[in-house]
Amino acid sequence: MTSPSPSDLSPNRIDRESALRAFELDPDVLHLNHGSYGAVPREVRLEQDGWRAKIEKNPTGFFQDEYPPLMRAGAEKVARRFGGKATDWVFCENATAAVNGVLQSLDLGPGDEILTTSHAYGAVAKAMALTVERRGATLSVADVPPLPTDDEEVADAIAAHLGPRTRILVIDHITSATALVFPVRRITERARAAGVPVLVDGAHAPGQVAFDAPSLGADWYTGNAHKWLFAPRGCGVLWTHPKRQGITRPPVLSHGTDRGYAAAFDWTGTRDPSPWFCFETAARVHDGFGGETLRAGNRTLAAEAAEEIASNLGAAIAGPVSMRGSMAALLLKPNFDDPEGAAAYRRRLASEHRIMVPVYVFAGALWLRISAQIYNAPDDYSRLARACREMLA
Ligand SMILES: Cc1ncc(COP(=O)(O)O)c(C=O)c1O
Repeated sequence: MTSPSPSDLSPNRIDRESALRAFELDPDVLHLNHGSYGAVPREVRLEQDGWRAKIEKNPTGFFQDEYPPLMRAGAEKVARRFGGKATDWVFCENATAAVNGVLQSLDLGPGDEILTTSHAYGAVAKAMALTVERRGATLSVADVPPLPTDDEEVADAIAAHLGPRTRILVIDHITSATALVFPVRRITERARAAGVPVLVDGAHAPGQVAFDAPSLGADWYTGNAHKWLFAPRGCGVLWTHPKRQGITRPPVLSHGTDRGYAAAFDWTGTRDPSPWFCFETAARVHDGFGGETLRAGNRTLAAEAAEEIASNLGAAIAGPVSMRGSMAALLLKPNFDDPEGAAAYRRRLASEHRIMVPVYVFAGALWLRISAQIYNAPDDYSRLARACREMLA
């Protein structure tokens, strides 16, 4: 089976079968969850295979001599795409690792407070909770409405919790449970006015929205290239403002620990670095699929699909279209606090309908999140709406 190269594919919606052939996804499964784990195009997977084969020929020569400059060359490519200087960018396993590194780097003590929001990603929220518990500090959670009406409502809800004890504000760029694009600049302006440093968890942002990390006004910005930018899994990136680099270290401390910020992240022990070396190829594939045209097409598809599902099921969509990217979260049932029940719905969609989509509890309600990617088409979501209608009846 020949697979079309990205440049053969129209940047607008192409037929689902052609797009699927550029990936290695099972065509018998309806993939509506690009957001959680991404999907690696065949071209990128072949590039990764090439790196692994190359490393295997001479591991000693590779790691001792070729690896260090390759890591810095990779950081140059990240800087060219997301702004700033290569020396401010490092690779890490994923956004979770980057957030843990920043949290561990903070000199927190009793009386200090980490501020985050009720939309924070579950794993990151747990890391923050254990961090404050270990340091005798506290975690403050700004309650952002699950269905906000505009950017100001989000920024106001967070700003109301900034105080003299707040040592760091941790916000998402794009939230996981509600699929909202937070107004990062507005929020960092408010935090700056209060003298509070900001860590942005942009796990979903690379490849879903355009951004220039240094101009967002944050102190740290982490993102995953392995979701919407099509890199192999394990391709996280972290930007750190020069004034915070002296204290910022990875969660795993190794040979580079005492050699500065970039050296500390560039070596965190022996591992497979191939996902990082595929960053540029993945970004090129993303551009080959249309770049901004792809992102805009995904936004439109997600918005139209959300409308269709919402009207079919009487569900509410989180946020206005202006606050959404290539995903949309739908509140299916209020007053639903049964995570096992939600998991049972998800498993039924998978086993009875071959549809992969997250169904979960958030803020005491039952939610569904859709993703739109180049291999999806409008009728995918009609099929999902029919399956949900049958399931929830
Ligand atoms: C906001 C947010 N942060 C962090 C993560 C974790 O990403 P990873 O497992 O790649 O670290 C996710 C995953 O979806 C997320 O949505």
